[in-house]
Amino acid sequence: MAVLEIKEYPHPILAQKALCVKDFNHNLNKLINDMIETMFSNNGVGLAAPQVGYSLRIFTFSINKKDGGQEEVGVVINPEIISQKGEIREEEGCLSVPDYQEKIKRKSMIVVTGFDINGKRVTLEAEGLLARIFQHEIDHLNGILLIDRISRLKRDIFLRKMKKKIKQRK
Ligand code: CO
Repeated sequence: MAVLEIKEYPHPILAQKALCVKDFNHNLNKLINDMIETMFSNNGVGLAAPQVGYSLRIFTFSINKKDGGQEEVGVVINPEIISQKGEIREEEGCLSVPDYQEKIKRKSMIVVTGFDINGKRVTLEAEGLLARIFQHEIDHLNGILLIDRISRLKRDIFLRKMKKKIKQRK
């Protein structure tokens, strides 16, 4: 397993629509294991393949279960949201947009279908933080970042700070 480099905004791969996975082979296995290791090493709760340079419809997630504190780690390949309800606004961050947090409106409950690492169809129901992770990661697969979901005013402020940051790096 290896820790992969996280691509940060404004890397162009983050704005692309990722491709469906067709081959459930050894390479896919390796990529998913590397994604999980990368997610953990960055203390992330979710990671989408484009964030590590692969334009493929894969995301991993990790969440602490409320009772017992046991950790649930998973992957969804070629995910699709089949049902959703409710609305909730909460603070969100992204490994590809470092040092930035903003309140984002999401559905409070969603049902996602997709495939597991072996190509078996799975259906996952999620609410709370897990539902938020799923929606955030599926956004990544469609080339959407959290800064695409904030108001124009907030985005302008973000872009101005970003420009300053890039200038200082030079
Ligand atoms: Co993200």
